[in-house]
Amino acid sequence: MTEPAAANNGRVPRASLRVLLLGGHGRLGSAIAARLGPLSRAPADGRVELSAPTRRELALDPTAPAEAATHWFARWRPDVVVNCIALTDVDRCEREPALATQLNAALPAALARAAAVNGARLIHFSTDYVFDGALRRPYREDDAPNPLSVYGATKLDGDHAIADAGCRHWIFRISWLYGAPRRNVSAMLLERAGADRKIRLANDRLGVPNPVQLVAREVADCIAREAANAGLDALPPSGLYHLSARGATSWHDFGVAFVREAIRAGQLAAAQAPHLEGFAENALARPAKRPLYSALDPSRYEQAFGRTMPGWEQAIALAL
Ligand SMILES: NC(=O)c1ccc[n+]([C@@H]2O[C@H](COP(=O)([O-])OP(=O)(O)OC[C@H]3O[C@@H](n4cnc5c(N)ncnc54)[C@H](OP(=O)(O)O)[C@@H]3O)[C@@H](O)[C@H]2O)c1
Repeated sequence: MTEPAAANNGRVPRASLRVLLLGGHGRLGSAIAARLGPLSRAPADGRVELSAPTRRELALDPTAPAEAATHWFARWRPDVVVNCIALTDVDRCEREPALATQLNAALPAALARAAAVNGARLIHFSTDYVFDGALRRPYREDDAPNPLSVYGATKLDGDHAIADAGCRHWIFRISWLYGAPRRNVSAMLLERAGADRKIRLANDRLGVPNPVQLVAREVADCIAREAANAGLDALPPSGLYHLSARGATSWHDFGVAFVREAIRAGQLAAAQAPHLEGFAENALARPAKRPLYSALDPSRYEQAFGRTMPGWEQAIALAL
């Protein structure tokens, strides 16, 4: 894997690139903020000025996304907006479809329109839940989506709205995040060890677990390129890219591999390792349907951005 691009092939960079990170205190957003910090301390070539406002500073009224986008662009004057705001609780999206539509579709649409007006780039995140899982091989960008849930449908509407707005954009479709300090499978595997030793993980769904550190590293690389090539055409084209580790597994098999690697890395004592049990999640009565297969194929991303994505087992090291 290559490191963030620093060279600009002799082109003239702008003094610094203003990056506005929205949702910078969530699971993925925090990892991106941590990764962009060093770029903001870089020398003039490729320097990044990062703003990661809190939810309070953003003061978003979800019913008025256009006003919010206009206000944020006026206040922070970003060259690049990285949008991690979303309603990600898939069951809550079924119960609150209006809020899901506002945050997952209307807000990205408003950001894209404001980015087009202001000549900025929008980096946004889509989801594997736009697919129904019927294909049973890693999904490519041109495979037909068919969301099974309000979450998947509203996220897909957001993708379409960004593509229609005409701004410079990269939509990164990602899947099954872990590696954040809270509210995800790896945190649970590390935290609960030694207390309640039994953890049940689904074994009937296949997808790709991705550490937030991997996605953040790739986003930082994109922003470093943007900083080094600002205003020029040497960047991968706008569009939708599947940004994912390779392979496919269940949460249960991931858990077994993660615990093994955590012990090897000294993050977990073998005697305190949780006992993992597989179960059929599909049998649970839950508001939102999840696709039984949703692995993503990163080939288009690798080709366009000149990157090589690791297998999901290899990627675990990035979270430890
Ligand atoms: N998690 C996954 O497994 C997964 C899988 C595929 C795709 N994705 C996509 O990846 C992106 C990031 O996901 P994530 O897991 O990092 O999400 P997350 O942890 O739920 O973070 C969402 C962010 O949105 C902010 N937010 C929500 N409602 C808001 C409101 N009304 N006003 C202002 N901010 C608001 C949250 O603020 P607070 O911090 O204040 O709560 C948080 O910072 C999303 O686009 C998601 O659809 C995630």
